[in-house]
Amino acid sequence: MSALLPVEQRIQQLRTAVTAHADQYHTHDLPLITDGAYDLLFRELQELEAQHPHLVTLDSPTQRVGGAILDGFEPAPHDQPMLSLKDAMDDTEAMAFVTAAAAGLGVEPEALDLTGELKYDGLALAASYIGGVLVRAATRGDGFTGENVTSQARTIRNLPLRLPFPIDLDVRGEVVMRNSDFELVNKELLSRGEKPLANTRNGAAGSMRQLDPKITASRRLSFYAYGVSGVNGETPFNATTQWELIQGLMNLGFSIAPETAVVRGWNGLKSFFERVGEGRAALPFDIDGVVFKVNALHGQQKLGWTNRSPRFAIAYKYPAEEKISIVRDIVVQIGRTGAATPVAKIDPVQVGGVMVSSASLHNADQVNTKGVKYGSTVIVRRAGDVVPEVVRVVPSTADETLQCFVMPLNCPSCDSRLERQPGMVGSYCPGGLKCPAQKLGKLCHFASKLGMNIDGLGDKSITAMIEAGLIRMPSDLFSLQAPDVVSLPGFGRVSAAKLTKNIAASMHPDLARFIYSLGIEGVGEATSKALAKQFGAWSRFRVATYDELIQTPDVGPDTTANIQRFFADDALGLEADRLAEITSPQDSLKATGSTLSGKVFVLTGVFPTLNREQAKALVEDAGGKVAGSVSSKTSVVVAGEAAGSKLEAAQNLGIPVWDETMLLAALAS
Ligand code: IVH
Repeated sequence: MSALLPVEQRIQQLRTAVTAHADQYHTHDLPLITDGAYDLLFRELQELEAQHPHLVTLDSPTQRVGGAILDGFEPAPHDQPMLSLKDAMDDTEAMAFVTAAAAGLGVEPEALDLTGELKYDGLALAASYIGGVLVRAATRGDGFTGENVTSQARTIRNLPLRLPFPIDLDVRGEVVMRNSDFELVNKELLSRGEKPLANTRNGAAGSMRQLDPKITASRRLSFYAYGVSGVNGETPFNATTQWELIQGLMNLGFSIAPETAVVRGWNGLKSFFERVGEGRAALPFDIDGVVFKVNALHGQQKLGWTNRSPRFAIAYKYPAEEKISIVRDIVVQIGRTGAATPVAKIDPVQVGGVMVSSASLHNADQVNTKGVKYGSTVIVRRAGDVVPEVVRVVPSTADETLQCFVMPLNCPSCDSRLERQPGMVGSYCPGGLKCPAQKLGKLCHFASKLGMNIDGLGDKSITAMIEAGLIRMPSDLFSLQAPDVVSLPGFGRVSAAKLTKNIAASMHPDLARFIYSLGIEGVGEATSKALAKQFGAWSRFRVATYDELIQTPDVGPDTTANIQRFFADDALGLEADRLAEITSPQDSLKATGSTLSGKVFVLTGVFPTLNREQAKALVEDAGGKVAGSVSSKTSVVVAGEAAGSKLEAAQNLGIPVWDETMLLAALAS
């Protein structure tokens, strides 16, 4: 039969058949034909396309196997920013959401309709369809610009490449790795002698960010949709509720968790949270909570957004997972700041999706108050990306016979006498950069992703370099030459050249990154950003007084004292100055003034809170330009109430249209 059909027609038939069978299999879990029969259809299609390359289309199911290897990810700006959800950690916070949303809408809390959705734990993805064809897929990135991962997304089996109707849509959802696929993929990786994936979330995120889409294709990812908008933020499917939007997505062939429901008021919310919580372990994928959204779309609009998140939705998180294990040893680790932390070495257990064999005991006082001894049975907990910790001991009659832990008097790394600082819990090694453990910790922190982000410089290479006498402190990294590195274990000519190139590329960090990389106790990512914003330039931050430091938002007396103590240490202060001299951190005033730099804005209509002058000043302060009319040079049109011809022009030219909230969010980011 098939030989009689013109080739184009046969290709079309095969595409329809393969897509339908794949959909039955991946979206509905209901295969209608055997895998063998499916493979035959697929292979015939592949062969015909290979013979007639001009007939290959973007939406052909053969395109799912992964195309060419990319050099890097292209930036992908979002028309509508991808913001995040506010979290509720307990009943009080969840109830406060219901009360506030109901009050904002003028309804009784018991009468408020919400959708209850799963909070899929993977990687957010925006999939854009034009004329019903998937044309672009982007990660969230900083919320305003993501990475173009279209080739990777095409390999996700249950993400439609073509919709049944030629419509324009922007679909939002989560890429996840199902638990069964996680096991299969890890088995495969192990059999090839490769490192297994740590958990399903890393599995999903890491697999999507592979430059070779064939690798993504081998990772068996899935996509679950949770939101959709039409072009310029229009509401598709004539929907008036979130539930109708989700149904619309389902009708187009997107996977939606069957648990999704409409619930009423606090009682409905609470029972959904509990019901899903009880069934959580049996779900095919990991979730870290449930999401509730005001069901009526006009209600969503009325409540609106804050700078970071919608007021009409909340993510109600499940508490961190806890597991039982046995303490086999207690060791003392010296961190980069010198803090001496007792750590329990336990029988390995799977907690919150990762295998855990060490759990923090925080400090000697906690070991004693919790009663942890060598051999104790303990509960360990892990929440998100935080370090696993021992929560408590499970009492047993054997406890009396177990040996107690005694905090050593000297540093296990450099043998300095451990000290206790007034007002601080726990003990510290005063060895500073002379202590090998602190030196290693500081170097690793300096090179880490949130620090100077030197790719290819992990703890193993740093240890090897220290042992070879190549580096003693971070500033030594900048005088490393490729021939020095070549002879180190794990390095060759190419990797040594690459590493020295990466080190050079880390020059001129922005000020916040530089401050973070110094590893001052208590100065994490958010505090570094706040300090960079407050002081603007390294030279100002370096000489800041106590009174100046404490005026920084969210910086309290402890952090202020830590910063002053850090610079008061001659060796640390000198090293910081040397690093600043070598790397020349960029002034932050320029950086904060450049969030919108290079972008041309057109403002039109009446904004809800800002007047035109205020909006213009804000854009210009952030480095953007404001123009009077829309042209091909316009980056964004910010439209308020009663916007007219400029809005229309933007829509015709396909220029992103923001509202005031989106502008404020961009400025805040
Ligand atoms: S709605 C404004 N619904 O959770 C944000 N997000 O912090 C709109 N997520 O990274 C998102 N399941 O990718 C929404 N049912 C769900 C979700 C969900 C998972 C993720 C999302 C984002 C994070 C929000």
